[in-house]
Amino acid sequence: MTMPGLETLAFSEVRATVEDAELVKFARGVVLFRTTAVPEKLLELRTVEDVFFMLEHITGLGHGPDALRVLHSASLRADIATALLFWRRVRTGKRAKTWRVVSQMVGTHGYRRVDAGQSVKDALRRVFPTTMRLVDDEADVEVWLWLNGSEAVLGVRLSDATMRHRAYKREHLPASLRPTVAAAMCWLSQPTPDDIVLDPLCGAGTILIERALLAPYETLIGGDKRREAVTVAEHNVKAARVAVELHAWDARSLPLDAASVTRVITNLPFGKQIGTHAENQALYKALLKAFTRVLTPDGLLVTLTSEDRLWESVMREQGWILQKKVVCVILGQPASIFVAHRSKTGETQ
Ligand SMILES: C[S@@+](CC[C@H](N)C(=O)[O-])C[C@H]1O[C@@H](n2cnc3c(N)ncnc32)[C@H](O)[C@@H]1O
Repeated sequence: MTMPGLETLAFSEVRATVEDAELVKFARGVVLFRTTAVPEKLLELRTVEDVFFMLEHITGLGHGPDALRVLHSASLRADIATALLFWRRVRTGKRAKTWRVVSQMVGTHGYRRVDAGQSVKDALRRVFPTTMRLVDDEADVEVWLWLNGSEAVLGVRLSDATMRHRAYKREHLPASLRPTVAAAMCWLSQPTPDDIVLDPLCGAGTILIERALLAPYETLIGGDKRREAVTVAEHNVKAARVAVELHAWDARSLPLDAASVTRVITNLPFGKQIGTHAENQALYKALLKAFTRVLTPDGLLVTLTSEDRLWESVMREQGWILQKKVVCVILGQPASIFVAHRSKTGETQ
């Protein structure tokens, strides 16, 4: 599972991590694939929120109450024994004592989500070892039922919350970016070991930390105009054990040499939680001028904002060429990641 919009990107990370990964299907926020890779490898993925051992994939489920019978018989077939072997392996031998069913439903159906969950529970009671107890929450093993239209996926969750929230993120700020989205931005920046990466509006430091953990680099530099944000970034950077130069500054006048960084990767104020749309009109122009000055001519600019129209027009005005745009959902609202360059070199990258 990944953030909606990032499915193809997440699968490119999967392919780069496990070569034999074979795509079965993309759905909203979900990538189904086959692999013979060990599950530990998949838990290292950075653009992915959760990893599951798939038990069943049902298509043509139908919207009416008959679907509940189909779900019940599919759950009876589920290979829980193998799923539990994988689970124990990634949880380093921990003995599972409890299990529960988590159900998610997208779209309209002729039955309730709880009833679908109940059908699965009723069947799985017969499949789970009798030594394990069904509970309502806080279970060792979670079976997720994901229903979207006439399709259903049933899987055992191999990842835990640290996969999506990360252990380093000790301190949070409002408008702080989800680490998986930050990792996706870094992935889109086409990382090289010579990269001098700048996040001029770094907030809690998520993007720079994700860049450090994703691939080798030369230098990471970040800053924010709020001293409080810089302090939070310092704590997170320390917890992640990465080296980042951090500054309190105004990103409109960066105290950096011209053409001194190879990548700017940043999450702009959306004008909602931070700033306003009116303020963004002038701010975006001034920021892009500053980014253009400090970036090398073949440097790449990777930005995230929900102010698509404004940002695209500012980029166009200042001679930036849009290489890629990935539409995703951030805190329930549509936003886009933009990858842009200025030169012919950028075009061929
Ligand atoms: C959307 S948040 C970035 C969140 C960050 N990616 C994270 O994960 O925490 C935008 C940040 O820009 C900062 N900011 C706004 N205007 C700025 C400016 N002129 N110079 C530097 N930072 C600024 C805000 O303080 C805020 O932390």
